[in-house]
Amino acid sequence: MNERLSFASKNILITGGLGFIGSALARRLVEIGANVTLVDSLIPEYGGNLFNIAGIEDRVRVNISDVRDAHSMKYLMQGQDYLFNLAGQTSHLDSMAAPETDLEINCRAQLSILEACRQYNPAVKVVFASTRQLYGKPDYLPVDEKHLLRPVDVNGINKMAGEWYHILYNNVHGIRACALRLTNTYGPRMRVKDARQTFLGIWVKLLLEGKSFEVWGGEQLRDFTYVDDAVEAFLLAAVREEANGQVYNLGGCEVINLRELAELSVKANGGGEFQVREFPADRKRIDIGDYYANDKRIRSGLGWAPRVNLQEGLARTFDYYRRHLQHYL
Ligand SMILES: NC(=O)c1ccc[n+]([C@@H]2O[C@H](COP(=O)([O-])OP(=O)(O)OC[C@H]3O[C@@H](n4cnc5c(N)ncnc54)[C@H](O)[C@@H]3O)[C@@H](O)[C@H]2O)c1
Repeated sequence: MNERLSFASKNILITGGLGFIGSALARRLVEIGANVTLVDSLIPEYGGNLFNIAGIEDRVRVNISDVRDAHSMKYLMQGQDYLFNLAGQTSHLDSMAAPETDLEINCRAQLSILEACRQYNPAVKVVFASTRQLYGKPDYLPVDEKHLLRPVDVNGINKMAGEWYHILYNNVHGIRACALRLTNTYGPRMRVKDARQTFLGIWVKLLLEGKSFEVWGGEQLRDFTYVDDAVEAFLLAAVREEANGQVYNLGGCEVINLRELAELSVKANGGGEFQVREFPADRKRIDIGDYYANDKRIRSGLGWAPRVNLQEGLARTFDYYRRHLQHYL
């Protein structure tokens, strides 16, 4: 992909642009010379953080607004060449405690964003951040895109509807759209204050503070995508026409169980300790067991492959938070 040719001077809107993955995408696009606008509500429980754009703050437009506000979305959508649609409520547990908020953001707002595209900018290309949570507890491994969708929590159901609205608008209204079903994504700028975005976040924080952390279960298999690899997938999906109407799993370089991941994290930190515990009951009820992706479709279809393995990715992550933890507490 010739990134400069594809994105330089192009108008790009990133919803959830002050969040973990959205800000990484923004950094990359600004480097390439794109005109980038970020929309983010900065709701404190979510991953948005102004520090995520430190160093590029003068080269992006930031609009603090909520994707549930159809009026701002209608205005913001106009004149955009690409929409990277990443705004979302990401906590599975919060989606069970406050299901209607999750519904409003991950489902209803997605429909109104797509309506804004249809009415005010039908030529825009949209890439949606979907999730492996749609599959629920896998029937087989690795999980490919043909696996039954059977979410185990409210978040998975609403993200599923959000994803399918995108595919529907592609198929019926000709709004070019596709979706990436992300697995656990990690790296610099993820939320580490708590486990709302990823359990790995709280592990990193506690390790850096010299405190012990808990691993629940320990034997579950998972795959992890380093954030730069995820960004690459978003860019590829945006420029490739054959992606329109498609959904793609993203995987990682390796499959690992959580106990091994905890050991690797301790090593990356240069020391630390953890305890393996039983799952708390509220988590156990919505746990999906083992998961790892079959991501052959995006590898063969778009030529994507993860490049950063866990050892390297964790080293970069700890390096970042060693310097900047205070901005994430
Ligand atoms: N990180 C992962 O492991 C992972 C896995 C699967 C899917 N995803 C999806 O990727 C997307 C980005 O996730 P992330 O990991 O960067 O999380 P994040 O919380 O850092 O980013 C989401 C951003 O959306 C913003 N946001 C939330 N609700 C909003 C609203 N109503 N209006 C405007 N902005 C709003 C938040 O403030 C935050 O900055 C999400 O849609 C998430 O569901 C992430």
